[in-house]
Amino acid sequence: MIRIVHGGERSRSNRGNKMIEIKNLNVYYENQNKKTQAISNLNARIPRGEICAIIGPSGGGKSTLLKVLAGIIRNYEGEVRIDGRTMDPKIHRIGFVPQNYGLIQWKTVEQNIFLSAKLKDGKKQIDVEFYENILEKLNIKDLIKRYPNQLSGGQRQRISIARALLLKPDLLLMDEPFSALDAMTRESIQEVFLAVWREFQVTTILITHDIREAIYLGKKIAVFSSAPGTIIRMIENHLLGETDLKFGEEYNTLNRRLRELLKGELSS
Ligand SMILES: Nc1ncnc2c1ncn2[C@@H]1O[C@H](COP(=O)(O)OP(=O)(O)OP(=O)(O)O)[C@@H](O)[C@H]1O
Ligand SMILES: [Mg+2]
Repeated sequence: MIRIVHGGERSRSNRGNKMIEIKNLNVYYENQNKKTQAISNLNARIPRGEICAIIGPSGGGKSTLLKVLAGIIRNYEGEVRIDGRTMDPKIHRIGFVPQNYGLIQWKTVEQNIFLSAKLKDGKKQIDVEFYENILEKLNIKDLIKRYPNQLSGGQRQRISIARALLLKPDLLLMDEPFSALDAMTRESIQEVFLAVWREFQVTTILITHDIREAIYLGKKIAVFSSAPGTIIRMIENHLLGETDLKFGEEYNTLNRRLRELLKGELSS
């Protein structure tokens, strides 16, 4: 089990009614004078401490939503609030694992992992014990002196996850964070993530294309529409963290329901 030296108590005591609230969100991209809508009238409430898994068709606007929540896309219509305050990366601690990992090529792995926490708190505040723990659990200890272009896709992904976790974020945003990992590594990193989540209770939004992963990791499962994207169903999932899901009746029913919703979106 990963021990978190400072953040856990702070997070637990702050929970109350706190949540992420998204109201009437609309996002447009403008390229060569052409305006296309990527997100349409999206509403969601995610209570603090929960994991919300997002599944949906490719091109539906899932990454766009995460970029809004990360403060990368600032030009949007609607409201995005964290604990009642308009989302602002300067105020909130937001850990982001982008779909393309977002590593800086000319910095070493270690420098990349330190980056967000250092920018937020300064290097002296980095929790070295926690850092070493993360390196060990994610099995990336031997990589810290390398540069990103000397790593495999799955290794880059784990570096990006390490960077987001080291920040001890209030909100953790992960865009298909386990997609490049082989089946065994994927299972073990999912467990590491759940262990961190259980300890830290960090509010997490996680995009995945894997229905099994959504059921394993999502307390809520948000099903996205095709473009322009919105959330067509927000499902409460009681199977979070359950292993041996495949044989359970409840798992099969939920799996079927999600598949049907996705099929409907793909054919619409
Ligand atoms: N910078 C951009 N300029 C113009 N259009 C964009 C831009 N980024 C994304 N889009 C478009 O917005 C739509 C939503 O893209 P987004 O990346 O959010 O989808 P997604 O649901 O994450 O897809 P995937 O599952 O394939 O990752 C797509 O049609 C995409 O082509
Ligand atoms: Mg995406």
